[in-house]
Amino acid sequence: MISKQYIDELKSNNINELYKLIQNCNQNKELLFVLSNLGRLPDQFEGEYLLPFLKSPNDNIRLWTVKNMGKLKNGNYLQKLSEVAQNDKNSMIRREATSSIGRMRNPKAIPFLLELLKVDDPKIILQSIRALLVFKYNSDVKRELSQLINHPNEMVQMVIRKEYFPNKSLSKSKFHHIESPKSMQNTVVYGDVIETLKYVPDESIHLTFTSPPYYNARDYSIYQSYQQYLKFLAEVFKEVHRVTKEGRFFILNTSPIIIPRISRQHSSKRYPIPFDIHPYLIDMGWEFIDDIIWIKPETSVKNRNAGFLQHRKPLGYKPNPVTEYVMVYRKKTDKLLDWNIKQYDIKLINECRVNGNYETSNAWEIDPVFDKVHSAVFPIELCNRIITFYSYKKDLVFDPFAGSGTLGKAAQNLGRNFFLTEKERDYVKLIKQNVTDKPLFDENAPRFVTIEQFKELIENEK
Ligand SMILES: C[S@@+](CC[C@H](N)C(=O)[O-])C[C@H]1O[C@@H](n2cnc3c(N)ncnc32)[C@H](O)[C@@H]1O
Repeated sequence: MISKQYIDELKSNNINELYKLIQNCNQNKELLFVLSNLGRLPDQFEGEYLLPFLKSPNDNIRLWTVKNMGKLKNGNYLQKLSEVAQNDKNSMIRREATSSIGRMRNPKAIPFLLELLKVDDPKIILQSIRALLVFKYNSDVKRELSQLINHPNEMVQMVIRKEYFPNKSLSKSKFHHIESPKSMQNTVVYGDVIETLKYVPDESIHLTFTSPPYYNARDYSIYQSYQQYLKFLAEVFKEVHRVTKEGRFFILNTSPIIIPRISRQHSSKRYPIPFDIHPYLIDMGWEFIDDIIWIKPETSVKNRNAGFLQHRKPLGYKPNPVTEYVMVYRKKTDKLLDWNIKQYDIKLINECRVNGNYETSNAWEIDPVFDKVHSAVFPIELCNRIITFYSYKKDLVFDPFAGSGTLGKAAQNLGRNFFLTEKERDYVKLIKQNVTDKPLFDENAPRFVTIEQFKELIENEK
């Protein structure tokens, strides 16, 4: 039995014996064991002994051969590796060969890698780009890579933009990343969100979490058509994008809704809101990050099963909708999340760490909450999770469709500042009850203003 220890021993003390072992393996299994246990190879290792296996019909043997050849850092094998990268029938092996060429970090690899930029498979192109970026300032490399800004693949474009055409600081804000306008902190504006947002300075907000009106499914909003409704939401979320700080999050809670049939002669209609609004969000510069599913107990949702339960006829099946979507988007930027985190001082970062147990999956089981005044309030647990996962203390957290102000209440409890807009007087009253347990002289005491008053506050702060 060949062991890893034996291979290590031959590598250090008897390399010729190792070559013999490689040549004389009479079973694929044995050869695979040796190839996958070669580990670091000594400088004088003869790659010639590996070359025949590049033609093995066994995918794993070719894969491990390519991996080992990459360790040799020997420019003489570039031609062979690039043939594999171009022609192997297995895309994983083509990618590994490209990566092996890159791992050599040898300037002689440049022409081979440039050739690989012309293949069809974007994964090979991206791997070649990664390898070529080691020589980012070499004039040939720079010229060829820059041209890929027009490549059809979006990942290729994104990498090239970041490397050669970075957006010089996108920020137009006079505030530091962690700051926000004082006049917005813990402020509730009674009025239309679009009217209000006109006065909000660019990049004022750290996090938005909202649940917009459900088209015409509830009574607080009436839209002439679904298209008009989507356009309205898009207009609001475009403004939210403008007022959001670089690289920060926008989290949208929606679900498909049903508008009941007008009579038994007609059918009801379902509107897939999360899916229909998504393309608008991507178009305006939000980057899709995650889809969290909020799951409610089946006993808490309206039963649509009664008919099917009786007749059991296929096509008439209607599942009870126990889920809502909590879609996570980030304001598009070349900067990594690390950049956002580094804007805060380490003491605050430590204070905001999410310690203990937390939900690790994207399926969040949370009971809904029913309110006597407002028909669609957030459970506070949902707001607590969003705020703790996606913001830091003292951040400004926004809900453009505040309803009863659950997000404001959660923000207050968690040491964040909130900014809320709500157009219905009765709901603003509800917000007052929800967020005014702070003494009035407290500098964080919530402020309730009209759009006119808000405009004045903002102007005075300029
Ligand atoms: C689904 S509810 C939000 C409930 C909220 N998440 C809560 O926890 O209570 C949507 C809210 O948006 C408000 N709204 C609708 N159109 C608005 C607009 N143009 N400007 C401001 N608020 C609006 C409605 O009055 C309603 O209270």
